[in-house]
Amino acid sequence: MQTISEREDQIKTMEKFFDWKKLYKFFDLKKKKSVILAFDHAVEHGPHKYKGIDLDPVRIAKIAREGGANGVIMHIGAFKLVKEKLRKRVPTIVKLTARTSLTKTMMQELVTSVEEAADVGADGVAVTVYVGATLEHKMLRNFQQIKEAAHDLGLPVFAFMYPRVNDVKSTKVEHVAYAARLGAEIGADVVKTYYTGSTNSFKFVVESTFVPVLCAGGIVTKTEEGFLRKVRSVMEAGANGLAVGRNVWEREDAVDFLKKIKKIVMGNHEKV
Ligand code: FBP
Repeated sequence: MQTISEREDQIKTMEKFFDWKKLYKFFDLKKKKSVILAFDHAVEHGPHKYKGIDLDPVRIAKIAREGGANGVIMHIGAFKLVKEKLRKRVPTIVKLTARTSLTKTMMQELVTSVEEAADVGADGVAVTVYVGATLEHKMLRNFQQIKEAAHDLGLPVFAFMYPRVNDVKSTKVEHVAYAARLGAEIGADVVKTYYTGSTNSFKFVVESTFVPVLCAGGIVTKTEEGFLRKVRSVMEAGANGLAVGRNVWEREDAVDFLKKIKKIVMGNHEKV
């Protein structure tokens, strides 16, 4: 396991070779940190999983704007509803792949083209690859198409590299590190992946990867402090930030909570 100063050296080396400029819209380039608001859940899980939660994209856009998110992830239909409200204030990432939770098939198919996302003003695109799934090869093929088209248009690719070993979700460190590394190897600009449960184990995920790593937020923690502890752990592991959804927009004080997360990510590890 690296020491913190070894990790800092590694980051310096990565900065030397990694072209951060392409991520200027989504990252604080001085700190190399970012907090992105994720909102693809009504597709991934279905609205029935969020009873009592207002899933209006306009509300989410407002949270992103007022909470100071460095970006927001949405599918294209939701994005079209809010793009004017977000324009020039919050950079946007259009999710290009989808799967519903009504099927057992562990595969995200292409549902929006890079060209369509670019036409409506997306600043970046996102794609999910279920690493280890039976249909992994198809998702990798889609990834290749997306990456080439996105890079031709100068759009960064955010890869959600999620282990699905034998089609079952895994947050084991070896699987998450493998998935994250794969994302870097195949040309993702940013990898987003699951938290592995501890700072030390997530450190291994970050160390295994040579592009910026964002941690997914996961299900809502019982207390705010519980989630903020996780944010501190992710940052102490050396990650570049989080792409968080439920833990922000399922809370009543979503805007304030997003600000608290951002404060930790941007370098203030004090208790807030
Ligand atoms: P959360 O912060 O709510 O976990 O959102 C991050 C995210 O990657 C979403 O973009 C996605 O819908 C969801 O997690 C997928 O989670 P899972 O793979 O556990 O269904």
